[in-house]
Parts: sequence; structure tokens; C-alpha cells
Amino acid sequence: MFDGMHGGDVRGASLEFGIASEDLLDFSANINPLGFPEEVRQSISAHLKQISQYPDPLCTELREALSARHGLDVRRILVGNGSCALIHRIMEAIRPARALICAPAFGEYAAAARRFEAEIKVLLSREADGFALNGNRIAEALDGVALVFLCNPNNPTGQAMAQADVRTSAEQCRRRGIALVVDEAFVEFSDDPKRFSVLNAIRDFENLLVLRSFTKLYGCPGLRLGYAVGAPEVIEKITRCQEPWAVSTLAQAAGIAALPCEDFRERTRRLIHSERAFLFQRLSRIAGIRPFPSEVNFLLIKIERSDLDAVTLRSRLGKKGLLIRDASSFDGLDNSFFRIAVRIHEENERLLRALEEALHPSVERKA
Ligand SMILES: Cc1ncc(COP(=O)(O)O)c(C=O)c1O
Repeated sequence: MFDGMHGGDVRGASLEFGIASEDLLDFSANINPLGFPEEVRQSISAHLKQISQYPDPLCTELREALSARHGLDVRRILVGNGSCALIHRIMEAIRPARALICAPAFGEYAAAARRFEAEIKVLLSREADGFALNGNRIAEALDGVALVFLCNPNNPTGQAMAQADVRTSAEQCRRRGIALVVDEAFVEFSDDPKRFSVLNAIRDFENLLVLRSFTKLYGCPGLRLGYAVGAPEVIEKITRCQEPWAVSTLAQAAGIAALPCEDFRERTRRLIHSERAFLFQRLSRIAGIRPFPSEVNFLLIKIERSDLDAVTLRSRLGKKGLLIRDASSFDGLDNSFFRIAVRIHEENERLLRALEEALHPSVERKA
């Protein structure tokens, strides 16, 4: 289902605004503005001839490369056709009667819960707390729950829980026989991923599952590639729910080529760090909107004017060829919120200019 629940629908926006896809600048999906590493391009070209055969159904080489990178047994790793597909496979394998979703968060947790008939309990982080995620509140919400979804760092708020706090939540869940799924799709965009990631806690908690995505960090959402890490028995159970050949030859080849690209990851982190600070500072100076601090490659922003909502703002910017994410579909947010991705400097400057004009049309008239 794709009904405006996600950003990144460039084709739909192209039809809506009558602007060619290649002329749209997409701030609505949180994808690496550096694109994908050259090594990935080369590997995809080199593997093209192999699409005349079925892909390796076990993703052996990629799982071995992930196992080496994270220092984890290969039996703990399952590769999927995007981490989104894995969210659904996890729900299918665990079939919780009731799932707790820490919200506002990525809409697929609720979509997967509904699909597999889990009752949904929502724990909302509060605007008054800057949408900070709170381990104590998670602990208080665990009654009657069999599975918890925690997005860390969180989409769309950009807030993150420290590793020690997530570990505490994992321990509290374990004591009560609850599975904790931590979606770390954006963690590599933070200044110090180790501060937040619980990948290295996986051996300590058999109830913990960590999700990672290749598509955001390596700028290739069109390719579909993500992975889940957990206890071998749980991973095996989820694997049984996966269709054969779930991951294409080209996606596997891209993943294997991307993993050694430490320099690319470093450049990405440096860019995001400085551009996020730049955007935050400039957005804070624009009257009528307020950005929330973020640890990653996107910013949640509130419109603090009664005469304008995010739907109108999205439309005004869309007509100028700039796509933002109207955040009103997120639980706990309304149509005064929107989200933007952090992109490269010139693109961020262009967005800021367009935002000023869209928020204060008189500026446009004078220019
Ligand atoms: C938090 C989060 N997890 C997972 C996904 C899905 O990523 P993938 O492209 O790996 O399916 C998204 C996509 O927006 C996301 O925001």
C-alpha cells in the first residue's frame, strides 16, 4: 500500500506537480545525498551478466561479509528485500497478539501489525520533551505486549536513545518474554553510530532483533536491500517466512561492494553533521517554523502559524520542484509538522530560499 504514507514517491509527485522526475529535488525521503559509492556501480555492472541465473537464495557471500563487519555469527544474519520487507517477515514469524509501537514512527510497523492481526498499542513521545524517546515510559507500557518496535534513531523525529538505555529496555523486555525490534535504518548517519547502536548487544539478548537498511546509507532505495540480526533460532524462524530468492543478484552484489566503503561512510557522516547544523541554524531563524534537534540526516519541523499547514506548504514547494514530507500521517503528529532530508549544501540553500518564499510570499514578490 502506498497512499502518501511514505516520502520518496517522486513519480507520483511528478504527475501531481507536472514537473519531470529528474527536475524534482527530493527532500521527502531520507536518502544519502552523496548517492551510491562508485564501487557499487562497478559491481552492479560486473554482475549484470549473472541475472540470467537465479540469485544465491541464502545470500551467502553478503551474509559472510556482514558477519565479518559486525563480528557476528553468520547464522544471526538474515538479508531481505529492503528492511521494510523484513519488518513484515518479523511480524509474520512472531505473530504477536499485541505489539507496542513507539511513535511517531515509520508507518510500516503499524501496517505490518495490522496485516498480521496484532492489536496495536501506541506509546507516543511528547512534543514537550522534544519527542525524546524514554526508556522508563517504554517499561511502563509493556503490559500485555508480545513485541515492541523501537526506531532508533527515530524517523521522523531524529531523536535517539543511548545504547545503554536501549539495553535496559531489552533487559526489561527479556524478563517479560517480549521481543524487542530495534530499527537502526538511520544509525550510520549519526556522528557516532556506536553511541546508539545495540548491534553489539545481540549476543546478550535472545529477544533482541536489530534491523539495518542499505538503501538509505548507500543511496540505493531502488535496489531494495536490508538485513536483520538476532538470535539464530529467531532468524531461522523469520527465514522460513521469506519467499525464495527474495534478494536479487544485483542487490547482493551491491551490498558486498558497499560494505568495505568506510571512506564513503566517513564522508557521509561529515557532510550530514555540517549540513544538519547549517540547516538547523538557518531554519531556526525563519519566522513561523521551528525545527527539532536531530541526530541524523533529516529534521522534523513544526509550522507555528494558524494560517498555514504542511499540506499547503508541501504543495507550494512542490510547484517549485522541491518535495518535502508532510508528516501528518504519523501517529502523534498533525498537519503542522513536516520533515526534510539533509542534502548537499547548494540543495539545502535552495530549499531554504524556497521555504522563505513559500512561508512569506511577500519576499518572493520583492525579489
Ligand atoms: C525507519 C525506517 N525503517 C525502514 C525503512 C525501510 O527501508 P528499506 O528501504 O531498507 O526497506 C524506512 C524507510 O523509509 C524507514 O524510515
